[in-house]
Amino acid sequence: MAQPDIVVVADAAALAQEAARRLIDRVGTKDRAAVCLTGGSSPADLYRLLGEQPWRDKVPWDRVHWFIGDDRFVPEADPLSNMGMARRLFLNRVRAPSENIHPIATNANDPEGAARLYEAELKRFYGADRLDPARSLFDFVLMGLGSDGHIASLFPRSPALDEKEHWAVGVAEAGMEPYVPRVSLTFPALASTQEMLFLVDGAHKRDILSRVISGEDLPARRAYSDGDLVWLIDRAAAPEK
Ligand code: 6PG
Repeated sequence: MAQPDIVVVADAAALAQEAARRLIDRVGTKDRAAVCLTGGSSPADLYRLLGEQPWRDKVPWDRVHWFIGDDRFVPEADPLSNMGMARRLFLNRVRAPSENIHPIATNANDPEGAARLYEAELKRFYGADRLDPARSLFDFVLMGLGSDGHIASLFPRSPALDEKEHWAVGVAEAGMEPYVPRVSLTFPALASTQEMLFLVDGAHKRDILSRVISGEDLPARRAYSDGDLVWLIDRAAAPEK
């Protein structure tokens, strides 16, 4: 893995501000931009900020498309839904055209079926069936870090970690709570971005972050980006030197 840039900020509030600034930098002037959101609690402050001034006026809502890196196989109204959370915290509060929001179809028959539908949607959006390293699928990919080192719904020891062809996979069993089936993008699809930004805050993340940074073979360590790879962490999560 190429060495990521590690950016340390004071606290969770500063982390959300810096993430918003980076997102705007990536999508700002493009005719069409694609952002891949993440679930979990880490992005909640950022999502709230995007729905509020001054950030709300900085996002070119008509030109940005919103995808999700993984979701729990539950209806969007369920509190466990990642896209549901993004909608509640900001997408429902702004002028984001509904056709610019691309949820995983968690009403499909099963997670694998939903993965196939999402892959087809991503390919349609990208305009090709194969990813070209010179032309990224996303402009900005947000990632969280699970306490077991997972990212998206790519859990330690899962066969999904080795998926090289598919852009999305069904994950029948989650490796940690909440134990509901998932749908996840795969490493190659997530990597097809101008910037992948990890958001890690809080002292409870310090141990797992140290393990990732020290090179342990965890999913988060295997994540890569065709563009920039940045770990944005707050002081509480930063490993002691
Ligand atoms: C999910 C996520 C997952 C998350 C990490 C970190 O669906 O659960 O997308 O990969 O980012 O588990 O979660 P927290 O931000 O809650 O610590």
